[in-house]
Amino acid sequence: MALVDPRSAESFGLKKKVLRLEALYDLSRTLNGSRGEQEILEDALARAVGVLDAARGLAVRFEEPDAPGAMATVGFASPPSALDVASDPFVLDVCRARTPISRSPESVLSSTADSVAGAALVARDRVLGVLLVLDREARGGLATFDEEDRRFLGSLAALAAPALDALRHVRALEADVDRLREENQALKGTLKVDEILVGDSPPMRRVKEMVVRAASSRVGVLIRGESGTGKELVAKLLHAGSPRRSAPFLALNCAAVPESLLESELFGIERGVATGVDARPGKFELAHGGTIFLDEIADAPLAIQAKLLRVLQEREIERVGGRQRIPVDVRVVSATNADLHERIRERSFREDLYYRIRVVEIVLPPLRERREDIPRLAGHFLSRIAAREGRPPLSLSRDAVAKLLDYPFPGNVRELENLLEGATALVAGGVVEAADLQLRGAGPSETGGDLRQDLASLEREQILRVLASVGGNKSRAARILGINRRTLYRKNVAN
Ligand SMILES: Nc1ncnc2c1ncn2[C@@H]1O[C@H](COP(=O)(O)OP(=O)(O)OP(=O)(O)O)[C@@H](O)[C@H]1O
Ligand SMILES: [Mg+2]
Repeated sequence: MALVDPRSAESFGLKKKVLRLEALYDLSRTLNGSRGEQEILEDALARAVGVLDAARGLAVRFEEPDAPGAMATVGFASPPSALDVASDPFVLDVCRARTPISRSPESVLSSTADSVAGAALVARDRVLGVLLVLDREARGGLATFDEEDRRFLGSLAALAAPALDALRHVRALEADVDRLREENQALKGTLKVDEILVGDSPPMRRVKEMVVRAASSRVGVLIRGESGTGKELVAKLLHAGSPRRSAPFLALNCAAVPESLLESELFGIERGVATGVDARPGKFELAHGGTIFLDEIADAPLAIQAKLLRVLQEREIERVGGRQRIPVDVRVVSATNADLHERIRERSFREDLYYRIRVVEIVLPPLRERREDIPRLAGHFLSRIAAREGRPPLSLSRDAVAKLLDYPFPGNVRELENLLEGATALVAGGVVEAADLQLRGAGPSETGGDLRQDLASLEREQILRVLASVGGNKSRAARILGINRRTLYRKNVAN
């Protein structure tokens, strides 16, 4: 009968201990650099299975209301579901015991294991999951998990659990930070929008909502509205509220630039295209990373429209006279006062370009359709004027407010702004009276009244101009204007 050499048994035991300590040491080191829960579970499980000679193993991080669980398995033909694990009687015993337990044989996870040991993953007095090893293998056949094995398993669990806990803690903190950052940004965004784009009428609230929502994306925004309704202001806000805010915002009025120059303004030009021409980048290149505002887009010639379409599709430009394709990342915001559908029907505007530039459409209603905004807008402009000129606070008398509310503002917000600039230049004190507001032929505004008034005020202006040029001589003025004196008197301008 071969006796076991006590020295070799001792050395075997020592080796085993060293091996286990090494495994623990390795795990503690890798945990420091672990990227995720799954990785921690896999690391701990691999060492448990390897060192304890188990045929199967399973490590699970239980699901929580705000976070999904994670699971790692070794040797399972078809891994059990997380729910099966969480409700398994042996797993529940492991959780309750808190110190590692082992049994043999035992029915675990709807199969019979010859031997099984489990340790709970506990951190801050909470069970986060379990670490299980099943079917211990030994050279002579089956074996059971002993006290030393349980201690080793417990040590692995004790190392892994705080790492898992810390990870979730960090994740929660990161999520908090992200949420706070987002809230802060949204808050800043809305605050800014409210300060800059004044008006709380339902249509303006909708406009502001759209501005905040559309700002962060790079899709094409088309802003429509009458003259002076704030189209350019909205375009600037879309830029200021976007992640592109630190890159340039460049505007180009397609109606104001002659066709021959528009292309090079937009896309740049290479040297020597014409005599004396130096190479120069266009607005698209200069606005790289930022926003380009194409004002009066309806007036862009068809040839330019075709080029714009290509740039929007391919995100590359070619300078006039150039061969090189230059990639550009530019957000395009366009504005128009025209009916683009009609232009499309007339074939003076490309339909395919239309759909590119108006992925989002923001319509600015005329001021006469949101009169409730007038007092706040007036207050906004008055405090700006006072601040700019270092004057004491300015306000409107009740009559002045009534007069503004009654006026149709054919020139919209710009007209209101100019009106107040003019009025405050005339008043010495802090209150603007109704008489200080020089409206263009104000009167009742019925349907169609706006246009009639506009015409009347033009006529009045013309009469006054002619009268001034002839030193107030009404007969001469009437002759120049091609009307008779009586008509001139009836116009009630000249006296
Ligand atoms: N809701 C608003 N709140 C504060 N200021 C506004 C608002 N709307 C317009 N403004 C101001 O009115 C003036 C005219 O606005 P803006 O130039 O943006 O109009 P527009 O629609 O581009 O006009 P146009 O079609 O004539 O170019 C600007 O000074 C702008 O700051
Ligand atoms: Mg404008």
